[in-house]
Formats: sequence, structure tokens, C-alpha cells
Amino acid sequence: MNNVKLIDLPKILDKRGNLSFFENNHQIPFDIKRTYWIYDVPGGETRGSHAFKEQQEFIIALSGSFDVVLHDGKEERTYSLNRSYSGLYIPHMIWRKIDNFSTNSLALIVSDRAFDETDYIRDFEEFMTKNLYKYE
Ligand code: TYD
Repeated sequence: MNNVKLIDLPKILDKRGNLSFFENNHQIPFDIKRTYWIYDVPGGETRGSHAFKEQQEFIIALSGSFDVVLHDGKEERTYSLNRSYSGLYIPHMIWRKIDNFSTNSLALIVSDRAFDETDYIRDFEEFMTKNLYKYE
């Protein structure tokens, strides 16, 4: 869990409206290969519920709010995201689920890899087994 990081992005305050940004390898610690977003989430739904073997991600609540619940094989930690200038860096091999989406929330996610279903671990028991060696 030590490598998980909440990252505050630059915020250019302006009477006309504020602006934030991030660039490859500057505000976030990887090269961006892919961007996707999660929206129109019905109340009470959960997204995620998987880990990635290699992929790293950075998640921002561009609009609204949601909770990112992480597990590193040893402990669980919940991050509530609700600012469009602050995001969560998640290294590989961290189990995540995203829930508690507010109405009209928009989750922006950038990743260091192209989509690859073989990089997913979708079974929590399998994830825990793969982590055992770390905590022996
Ligand atoms: P998934 O990553 O399981 O969603 P969640 O964000 O809830 O974890 O992806 C859901 C479906 O969308 C799955 O069939 C794969 C597909 N998908 C892509 O084709 N490309 C992508 O970049 C992503 C993130 C998902």
C-alpha cells in the first residue's frame, strides 16, 4: 500500500473557471498509453473488483464523487475522491473496487498499458494467493 499515492495536480485558478492538467511522467509517475472513463453509473453499483498484474493507473473524480477501495493482499484502504484536481495513483498488484458513485459522477482513468484482458486478476482468492509470498 506504500506506493499508492494521492496526487494533487496543478490548479490554475481563474475567475473564468479553474484549470488542472497532468503530463506523461511529470505529475504522474508513468507514460500514459490509454485513457478511459466511467459514467452513467446507476446508484448502488460497483465497478472494478480486480487487480492488474502489470498495469498502473491514475484515477480522478472529474465530476461528482466515489470511493476507491484498495487491498494490497494485507490491508484494505478506502480513498474518497471528489476533487477534479486530485487523483489516486495505483501501482500494479493492488485489488480495487470503485463504489458509492454520486449522481452524474465521472471517473477519468489513465493507464500505462493498452487494454489486455490477460493482465487482469478477477478472482480475489487468486489475488490473495499471488500476494502470499510478500508477507511470509
Ligand atoms: P473492466 O475493466 O472490467 O471494467 P471496470 O472499470 O468496472 O473494472 O472493463 C469492462 C469491459 O470493458 C470489459 O469487457 C473490457 C472492456 N474494456 C475495454 O475494451 N477497453 C478498456 O480500456 C477497458 C478499461 C475495458
